[in-house]
Amino acid sequence: MTHRIAVIPGDGIGKEVMPEGVRALQAAAERFGIALELAPFDFASCDYYAEHGQMLPDDWFEILKEFDAIFYGAVGWPETVPDHVSLWGSLLQFRRRFDQYINLRPCRLLPGIKSPLANRQPGDIDFYVVRENTEGEYSSVGGRMFEGTEREVVIQETVMTRHGTDRVLKFAYELAQSRPRRKLTSATKSNGIAITMPWWDERVAEMGRHYPEVAVDQFHIDILTANFVMHPDWFDVVVASNLFGDILSDLGPACTGTIGVAPSANINPEGTFPSLFEPVHGSAPDIAGRGIANPIGQIWSAAMMLEHLGHQEVSVAIVAAFEAVLAEGDEGVLTPDIGGRGTTEILGRAIAERIIGQVA
Ligand code: NAD
Ligand code: IPM
Ligand code: MN
Repeated sequence: MTHRIAVIPGDGIGKEVMPEGVRALQAAAERFGIALELAPFDFASCDYYAEHGQMLPDDWFEILKEFDAIFYGAVGWPETVPDHVSLWGSLLQFRRRFDQYINLRPCRLLPGIKSPLANRQPGDIDFYVVRENTEGEYSSVGGRMFEGTEREVVIQETVMTRHGTDRVLKFAYELAQSRPRRKLTSATKSNGIAITMPWWDERVAEMGRHYPEVAVDQFHIDILTANFVMHPDWFDVVVASNLFGDILSDLGPACTGTIGVAPSANINPEGTFPSLFEPVHGSAPDIAGRGIANPIGQIWSAAMMLEHLGHQEVSVAIVAAFEAVLAEGDEGVLTPDIGGRGTTEILGRAIAERIIGQVA
């Protein structure tokens, strides 16, 4: 069976890390005999916007829904297109229209990378952020009134539905149940945001009745961010609303030394629509064009994509390949964010070679 994958590099370093993600995919396909058809697209980028006045072609939904998965780089080039225009015109449409309601973001301290937290070793930081990905604080309900006057008012509502909340909680409980520690942490702010957040806590408790083996705790988001830094070893699976999950999934990887390695899977678990795999990071205009972005977030996302497509062992092999390259710690190979002098391509090639050279 051939897996059909839409490949969308996007903007900035998305265009630099994507070739390395593709290189790893092709290496894995060759090594493990998987048939992949990779179809590149230039839309969902600010370059496309400059030419067409919109981020996506009118028929994007019909085009992309035929694929088995979407492999995305990063989008955003605020110098030319305001971020809310580029993001609401692309990535956020994909997540919503393809009902990718789970955003699964592993956070792990990898061998050979130094955590900015004192005395943390691989094994001390190893958890998942499960982020609600289609509703919550990212809502288009609201508006601006009395614009430009002294009485100007802006409102943007948080929308949480029972259907939308229960399904992400169920996923998080199932994940926690499948892991040795069986621990779930819920992020809320029920002291201050006194309608939606206590309700989320109620849904957590209700869902927990089906998972008596999972130990659950809950933190307000403010102290939870502090605990990510002070006690990252406390966490196993962390479930959060859209915005809180967004914040935690940059903070977690920062505690592992760099956000450049962090992957994500935007999943439609039912398989009605394609799921989307992308690094957590953005287009990084500050380093774009220099060829020094860390490609591991993209490559790890490729591993998550192959796992989603049913190739668990190939996914494990890709992760083992970049862990081996990292563990070697060759400064000429590693990118600057993890203490090296290498480039995106040098690190990407080293990982691809390791994938091909692996002994089963
Ligand atoms: P960013 O993630 O692009 O960059 C934040 C910092 O991390 C920068 O200093 C950058 O150089 C560094 N960084 C990011 N990825 C790296 C990598 N692979 N290797 C080494 N260093 C890396 O976040 P930002 O600066 O807030 O956003 C820049 C643009 O990207 C904006 O337009 C934003 O909206 C967009 N964005 C897109 C996505 C996405 O496509 N999923 C995610 C986040 C931000
Ligand atoms: C992410 C990004 C996006 C988000 C932005 C770019 C809209 O930060 O994927 O984490 O907030 O979801
Ligand atoms: Mn983010």
